[in-house]
Amino acid sequence: EDPAGRARFDELITADQRVEPTDWMPDAYRKTLVRQVSQHAHSEIIGMQPEGNWITRAPSLKRKAILMAKVQDEAGHGLYLYSAAQTLGVTRDRMTEDLISGKAKYSSIFNYPTPTWADMGSIGWLVDGAAICNQVPLCRASYGPYARAMVRICKEESFHQRQGFEILLHLSRGTKEQHEMAQESVNRWYAPALMMFGPPDADSPNSAQSMAWNIKRFSNDDLRQRFVDMIVPQAEVLGLTLPDPDLKWNEERGHYDYGELDWNEFSEVLKGRGPANAIRLERRRQAHEGGAWVREAAAAYAERRRAMAEK
Ligand code: 3HC
Repeated sequence: EDPAGRARFDELITADQRVEPTDWMPDAYRKTLVRQVSQHAHSEIIGMQPEGNWITRAPSLKRKAILMAKVQDEAGHGLYLYSAAQTLGVTRDRMTEDLISGKAKYSSIFNYPTPTWADMGSIGWLVDGAAICNQVPLCRASYGPYARAMVRICKEESFHQRQGFEILLHLSRGTKEQHEMAQESVNRWYAPALMMFGPPDADSPNSAQSMAWNIKRFSNDDLRQRFVDMIVPQAEVLGLTLPDPDLKWNEERGHYDYGELDWNEFSEVLKGRGPANAIRLERRRQAHEGGAWVREAAAAYAERRRAMAEK
């Protein structure tokens, strides 16, 4: 422990200023950031799969181009976040190994399948909408590299959310079959999207410390509530219903009440027993192995360049 370093760190946090990679920080601060930022990066990379599933089957060239751009954005988000995590001393190889071995977590939401095109709309509107609620406050996280990565990511997320909303609006106002496809998709994605925000505050072991260190600005339940309040009027514009009979405006609270979520399903998904966990990890492992030759070639090329520079 470095008393001067600790005093400086406490000063930065109390003054709500940024902690930078070269600043002294408590081991637990570093550890919780490696945990959260690496898991966030894993979520972005795994999140490419459910949507990638529809790139070759998009209903028009326009939709294909938009979907490709979105999936590429997710890859970039993963890159920014892995780089931010590396400033804390963890290596890319270590994070990749932890993901592929099933040791590392990534967002529960990406362990659900995407059987219809309307899922591209629900993921954009609900999943990216939830992501925006959760990620805008992270632009003010106390750890500099993480907060700065989030600024760029949030700008791109708003495009993701709008294009998803537009897909659903188009389907909802289309033929009877298209409207039903949109409704069936929203029925599947609503509850898992609410669970993306994490367990209820009473069951959130990391929240208190993360909030004390200005990493987490709002609690899981507060952000979940903000999200519900946002999507109810949007669902009305879409002409789609949200699959929650307990959803109703509570004048006293000034928020929408919503139904109980299935936290048993949530913990099953976190334990790797969700509908698509196995296939997501298998695809990620295949991609990693399939890309080994690129990494080896790049390393050999860099080595040769270094050797030539030393001649
Ligand atoms: N999926 C998987 N694991 C989750 C989870 C979820 N939706 N919500 C919580 N957990 C895990 C936590 O990681 C923690 O486990 P750990 O201690 O082993 O890491 C445990 O459940 C208890 O949860 P806590 O509330 O105590 O954990 P946090 O304080 O870390 O809060 C969080 C969870 C709100 C997800 C927070 O980690 C966070 O804000 N992370 C950054 C944002 C993020 O990862 N978003 C994922 C969305 S993916 C995405 O946005 C891509 C977009 O392009 C669609």
